[in-house]
Amino acid sequence: MMKKYIIANWKANKIPSDVQEWLTSFRTLLEQHTVVQNLITQDKVELIICPSFPYLAQVSQALTGIQGVSVGAQTISSFERGSYTGEVTAEQVAGFATSVIIGHSERRSHFHEAEEDLEKKVELATQYSLRSILCIRGAEDRIYSHATMVAYEPVEAIGSGQNMPAEEVVEKKKTFQGLNESIPFIYGGSVTPESSGTYLATGEIHGLLIGSASLKAESFLAIAATA
Ligand code: PGA
Repeated sequence: MMKKYIIANWKANKIPSDVQEWLTSFRTLLEQHTVVQNLITQDKVELIICPSFPYLAQVSQALTGIQGVSVGAQTISSFERGSYTGEVTAEQVAGFATSVIIGHSERRSHFHEAEEDLEKKVELATQYSLRSILCIRGAEDRIYSHATMVAYEPVEAIGSGQNMPAEEVVEKKKTFQGLNESIPFIYGGSVTPESSGTYLATGEIHGLLIGSASLKAESFLAIAATA
């Protein structure tokens, strides 16, 4: 059975005090959570926390040494180091994180990220040994062969409370060209602790990308427990 990835996407939420509070509560709750602890010990689950750039160092330091928990960025630049004011490169991120979300639909729509940018980002992630979590909105979006994981996030399901039922996700999966069976297939869009188990029980969905429900450590861990 493939390991399950439970990914927290905090998006542009949380001020410094919120991050500190989340980390404190996460560490305390995780220590007491025997179900999640057992899943981690048996290498059945990995938790990937993706904060905004300013918190990468802090989150990475706070989680160092905690088995089964790692850090990811929410995007990277499509450029290498150089004169690109405001950009954060794969090389920079690699000092603090082991994964990166690429092509989230919010980046595609609000920041006009195009396939050519995403292709470069996946390549740069690979070059700097970052695992890329490539988000696709549907069969219209390309799947790059170097992507480490593919996250299917139907736009209408994101932040709407209208999660796509697990059976429908499994049906959709069959339509995606270039989806390699050996790489984890993730679902994202309004997943809650109540619905998470239905996806992970299919055997076809190897992880979940969690927005709103990841903002509280308690609900994030409740989702992890359903793996
Ligand atoms: P949501 O976000 O869980 O709040 O719907 C998921 C995502 O956009 O990754």
